[in-house]
Amino acid sequence: MIKRSIYLDNNATTAVLPEVVREMVPFLSVYYGNPSSAYALGQEAKEAVRSARRRVARLLGCREEEIVFTSGGTESDNAALWSALRASGKRELVTTMVEHPAVYRLCRELEKDGYRVRWVPVGADGLLDPAEVARAIRAETALVSVMTANNETGVLFPIREVAEICRDRGVLFHTDAVQAVGKVAIDLSRIPVDFLSVSAHKFGGPKGVGVLYVRDGVPFRPLLWGGSQESGRRAGTENVPGIVGMGKAAELAAERVGSFADRVGTLRDRFERTILAGLDDVRINGHPGKRVPNTSNLCFRNVESEALLLDLDRQGIQASGGSACSTGSARPSRVLLAMGLSPQEAFSSVRFSLGWNQTEEEIDRAAAAVIEAVGRIREKLPSGLAMS
Ligand SMILES: Cc1ncc(COP(=O)(O)O)c(C=O)c1O
Repeated sequence: MIKRSIYLDNNATTAVLPEVVREMVPFLSVYYGNPSSAYALGQEAKEAVRSARRRVARLLGCREEEIVFTSGGTESDNAALWSALRASGKRELVTTMVEHPAVYRLCRELEKDGYRVRWVPVGADGLLDPAEVARAIRAETALVSVMTANNETGVLFPIREVAEICRDRGVLFHTDAVQAVGKVAIDLSRIPVDFLSVSAHKFGGPKGVGVLYVRDGVPFRPLLWGGSQESGRRAGTENVPGIVGMGKAAELAAERVGSFADRVGTLRDRFERTILAGLDDVRINGHPGKRVPNTSNLCFRNVESEALLLDLDRQGIQASGGSACSTGSARPSRVLLAMGLSPQEAFSSVRFSLGWNQTEEEIDRAAAAVIEAVGRIREKLPSGLAMS
């Protein structure tokens, strides 16, 4: 009998939910109009975009006019940083050492162009001290960008505190919430965030569509110029099927976010308990409590993550050795190094990220497979040889 594969890489991407596919399909075939067209076919598409905007606004606790549809998390991050720099004319940014490459790599590029970036470190548990952010802010700071949840460890940052510090200091604040939306509740009516990035494919929506939330009244300079779509804030014909899909995924996420922690968090904890009980020398990377409920980043001493991932793949289990964008690179995870892990420890770490539809049976089977695979790999080590 062929065993069904077990997908434990939901931080890389998620399956599109069936309800989402059902709503999208007619917008690929029947309602294919351009929302800018005045005739009925166009106006139907325009209404669908409006309805999706309403659903995303409800999920985030903001107003419809504050939602700008984009091509995904990467564009949203880039648009927020560039807008803040260009609208303010200032040349400094504050961010953390563990941001996703969509922020990190842009900041490195900006440094080459003479912009100044102040990098805030994280602790050994991956947590961020808001006081460190406060210390980094200067009169020249255009924007503070701090992610809500880390894509590799799932660690949650104190966004409310950082946002309040920025408001009190008169500095714009952006948060990359790509790994948080759908997993933890976000209510922008209660947190003074200026920009927030979202990506649909991380919570059951399609790839290639996202949102940049821009608080009402915050000066905005578009990244893309052209037509007047998105109230002049993002040019280009709208990805109508994608936006419709994102709207449905947002509606489902709003309904389910409360039970996500109970359901998926319980499975994640069960997975970790089984592995920690079945193996010696395994450690959780990141604060065990202050994490999104679906993510488990584990360091297996004396095990190369590449070997473990290959063994698991052969058994039909998919996980990740780092962020998806850096897979294939031979460099140890920048995020884990920033938490003080040695390169060897970083190379011995694997990220498992669970999804909404995961079952207990799958989790038990995956945990047993990990225990067996680690045992096999460690057995092959020459006796007396231990990676430090
Ligand atoms: C934290 C974070 N930000 C941004 C992105 C990029 O999102 P997208 O794939 O929609 O460009 C990702 C995707 O892995 C992410 O995890």
